[in-house]
Amino acid sequence: MQIQPLILAAGKGTRMRSAKPKVLQLLAGKPLLQHVLESCDRLDTSLKPLVVIGFGAEQIKQAVGDGPTYVFQEQQLGTGHAVQSASDHIPDDVPVVVLYGDVPLISSDTIRKVAGLAGAEKLALLTLEMSDPTGYGRILRNSNGGVAAIVEHKDATEEQKQINEINTGVLSLNGKLLKHLVDGLSAYNAQGEYYLTDIVEAAIEQGIEVLATQPEDSLEVLGVNDRIQLAELEGLLRQRATRQLMLDGATLVRPESIEIQGTLEIGTDVVIGPNVIFQGNVKLGDNVVIDANSILIDTEIAADARVRPFSHLEGASVGKGAVIGPYARLREGSKIGVQARVGNFVETKNIQMGAGSKANHLTYLGDTTIGEGVNVGAGTITCNYDGKNKHRTEIGDDAFIGSNSALVAPVSIGKGATVAAGSVVTKDVADNELCVVRPDRHSVSRWKRPDQKQD
Ligand code: UD1
Ligand code: CA
Repeated sequence: MQIQPLILAAGKGTRMRSAKPKVLQLLAGKPLLQHVLESCDRLDTSLKPLVVIGFGAEQIKQAVGDGPTYVFQEQQLGTGHAVQSASDHIPDDVPVVVLYGDVPLISSDTIRKVAGLAGAEKLALLTLEMSDPTGYGRILRNSNGGVAAIVEHKDATEEQKQINEINTGVLSLNGKLLKHLVDGLSAYNAQGEYYLTDIVEAAIEQGIEVLATQPEDSLEVLGVNDRIQLAELEGLLRQRATRQLMLDGATLVRPESIEIQGTLEIGTDVVIGPNVIFQGNVKLGDNVVIDANSILIDTEIAADARVRPFSHLEGASVGKGAVIGPYARLREGSKIGVQARVGNFVETKNIQMGAGSKANHLTYLGDTTIGEGVNVGAGTITCNYDGKNKHRTEIGDDAFIGSNSALVAPVSIGKGATVAAGSVVTKDVADNELCVVRPDRHSVSRWKRPDQKQD
């Protein structure tokens, strides 16, 4: 079914007390508006979403990109006026669904449901029973139980304020009818605004049937007006994500402390410790253990591997049974092999480390290919940057790099080669060779230290 999404996002969001427009505030790591657009992406419609912007328009375009069609509403004269501003772009013969940039969790199923209910000639509203409806528009029903009107909280009588069925704001109507109805709006109300909600009464007067439906999950229609609501929604989302993880078979040591900002895929019997943060796309294989206070960004961890506490992994992949950390930092392009070990205060970037290799302490490995069974001693540094260009280091299988060595790239260490501790290696080392680069020792026996000077 073709659906035309129309997202209202022109308001400033004064209660955020922010320099940026409200719809760019982040929820689960993404702008609020982005969440709505992703739900629109999941509709099978060829129509691009229309987004009404005003405050911070340039910032929004820059952050969100040119996926949607933007409509500029110069002055924010109300939700009805926002729809009017988009009239030129609204097609006639499809259901338009009005959405809000600050109601981020609306699902594509609900959008489809509302549009389906509206069909070609009805007005469909998404409503909800709320125990505390303060602030929302209320749904007035007639003696037959049909929808009669929506009254805004600020315009409602005391009696109307007792109504618990609220207007979520989401509605759908055929494009031609919608344009016709918003054309006739006036602003005689408590806020002096053109209320979109006034189209309900106008529709009834013109013989258009008005129907209401409810969302699957009330989370879908929660709006964000201030940072308290933003944090609450973040908390609810976290709870939803961590519950799903547990239902999928993960053990979460302290679920309320885990952040998932993006997508997390897990195998069976995964264990996640407290204060772990996941960002972007993260995949964890069977039996993976992620210990406390680690951060994983766009990273893949194979089965049976363990990330010990306080590790930071970004754009990395970790092989089966490998152990990372504690306090390790794997940067972009770190590919750690099966059963390998990267220990404390080791930083890696753009490296391949083969099966069973180890770099356990205080090391920097950058732009390096490491074979299998290699031992990289404590304090080893690959000097990959000459101040202008990056160069590669190659370390063959079963090589041993003694502690506190500097491998000055481009350089290659052969298979089974040994680099003695403290060496600064500037030339290639052949297979099975021992390379010692140290000043000769100089000793003086029976050395007597000088006496202290007397004044
Ligand atoms: C609106 C509904 C109310 C409903 C509530 C649900 C109206 C008159 N009222 O009230 O019945 O219960 O949503 O959350 O529609 N916007 C524009 N241009 C404008 C005005 C608003 O783009 O000129 C955008 C805002 O950026 C926001 C959305 O429309 O994303 C809603 O506007 P807001 O002023 O927050 O409406 P509410 O008073 O919450
Ligand atoms: Ca609002």
